[in-house]
Amino acid sequence: MPKKINVFFPAENIHIQVQTGVTVSEACTLAGKPLNLVCGGKGKCGKCKLEIEINGLHKEVLACQEIITRDINIFLPLEEEWNSTQILTANNTNLRKLKPLVQKIFLPKTVLQTPPYQGDWEHIQKQAAINLPNPPLSQLQKLSTICHRDDLTGITLVTAQNTLLAIEENDTTQDNYGLAIDLGTTSIVAYCYNLHTGEKVGTYTALNSQVSEGADVITRISAAAEKPEGSKLLQAKVVQTINGLIEKAVHQNNLNPNTIYSLVLAGNSAMQNLFFGFYPKFLGRAPYTNTILSGLQVKAAELGININPQGIVTFLPLIAGFVGADTTAVLLSLLEKDTANYRLIIDLGTNGEILLGNKHRWLTTSTAAGPALEGANITFGMRAADGAIAKVKLTQGKIELTVIGGGKPKGICGSGLVDAVAEMLKVGLINASGALLTAEKYLAVCRPEYRQFANNLQKINNTNVFLLTPEEQGNNGNKIYISQKDIRALQLAKSAIFTGCQLLLKASGLKENELTEILLAGAFGNYIDIHNAQLIGLIPSWGIPVHSIGNAAGAGAISFLLSQEVRDQISPILEKITHLDLAAQADFQKEFIKNTNFPI
Ligand code: FES
Repeated sequence: MPKKINVFFPAENIHIQVQTGVTVSEACTLAGKPLNLVCGGKGKCGKCKLEIEINGLHKEVLACQEIITRDINIFLPLEEEWNSTQILTANNTNLRKLKPLVQKIFLPKTVLQTPPYQGDWEHIQKQAAINLPNPPLSQLQKLSTICHRDDLTGITLVTAQNTLLAIEENDTTQDNYGLAIDLGTTSIVAYCYNLHTGEKVGTYTALNSQVSEGADVITRISAAAEKPEGSKLLQAKVVQTINGLIEKAVHQNNLNPNTIYSLVLAGNSAMQNLFFGFYPKFLGRAPYTNTILSGLQVKAAELGININPQGIVTFLPLIAGFVGADTTAVLLSLLEKDTANYRLIIDLGTNGEILLGNKHRWLTTSTAAGPALEGANITFGMRAADGAIAKVKLTQGKIELTVIGGGKPKGICGSGLVDAVAEMLKVGLINASGALLTAEKYLAVCRPEYRQFANNLQKINNTNVFLLTPEEQGNNGNKIYISQKDIRALQLAKSAIFTGCQLLLKASGLKENELTEILLAGAFGNYIDIHNAQLIGLIPSWGIPVHSIGNAAGAGAISFLLSQEVRDQISPILEKITHLDLAAQADFQKEFIKNTNFPI
């Protein structure tokens, strides 16, 4: 019998038993507290560091590397961060005439008398003025009994796009719910709607529990492709998170899960692959193929989604390669504002998706910006959660920091990093090539009012850094700084996005001044300082207005759930989109390298 080891989480008062050989991070997952394994548990990023206690001795370990061999206490310092991560839920949903994806039709008992020698189902279809071929056997079996029952007021047909999903007893037309889900790599947002009235019931958010397998899509793809049963494992994790969100919606609104018949999901290509349990290896390498691009609709029961087992789960269509259903959803969200004016739309994130066009044609591409904008692979990087420096300002020798949730900073998130580097550029701490000056060099060139910043230019671990906080101001007595390596990571990210924008513009044959606006979609686009993002060359400064449009992918999924008009537009929209393969562009490498510089 393998030895069982006791694992205790004192702060959470959780006790579990594991077998010897399990890692600390695996124990956390088993306890329902998965860690954010930024490098996929390879021991490279150091972000899973936490404190353990064995036999009264405390020490800090990398949770992904530490093997449990005896009874242990685990302290989860990231708990606060997990609970407080800022997830963008605001979106500009403009509802069109309500015609939900799932509809209910009530037929009173008075019309249920099947004429002699006729079939019940044919009679019912006639009465409801519908034609739904191949009704499910389980529902026909039900019909054969309830159709002739005297104790019912009638029956309700539950339908979706020329398909019968279910037959219910009595009039249940008012009990019809659906969820639109923005399935992000980091966070998942679920919008629950009453499909009878079109009203929003609530918004529910959670971190995608696949974060325990890596922060970015490439690490997740590797985890799914390389681990035994990897695809199944990652699918189970995301389904678990979504079921948790459904449970919240059900619990908080006293709903019966059987009254939820539809789920509509928008997410990037990797998320689609991992949601359906596809083997994603070939998406992770050139030429980046997917198992299926078309919109996919499957029964909830097939995926283990806890809504009515007859309910349907729809993933919006992907466009090409890494340009996924989130981009399709962004375009759906803009249908009402579809004009002949040309616009550039940027969804900033680990994988930046970019669109350029108007209502007649769209060019799109995706660009691997890397996880720096989400705080990963940055020395003190963290998600936009409590303790994260979200804004930085350097004025007259002073460093002003805005920390999410107040209190001492623990690290810096993407918007803080963009601010910090922009401000460092403004006062001359960084030159155009991204080199962080030494104190001596800086003193030789800086303006007198900024001389004091020279004290913050130091060398730590043989690397030039700029201190944002002295020791006593950082959480746990840490100095928080921006290192030369962090600046390089941001340079690569911003160059990837900017080069994508630039090459799309070139391929369109348009001039900068022929565009009317730049729209920023997604959480990051909503929180960054647009001026600073332009200053570092992350977002183009083409002399046109820049606006944030919130969670446009979520808004697109909602409009698909609620509006037939929107659903009818999916095919015409997809026909207008042309995908541009950035890597295949002759000038990509040259432009990419050039754009790593700062435009000062
Ligand atoms: S070092 Fe453990 S997740 Fe990266």
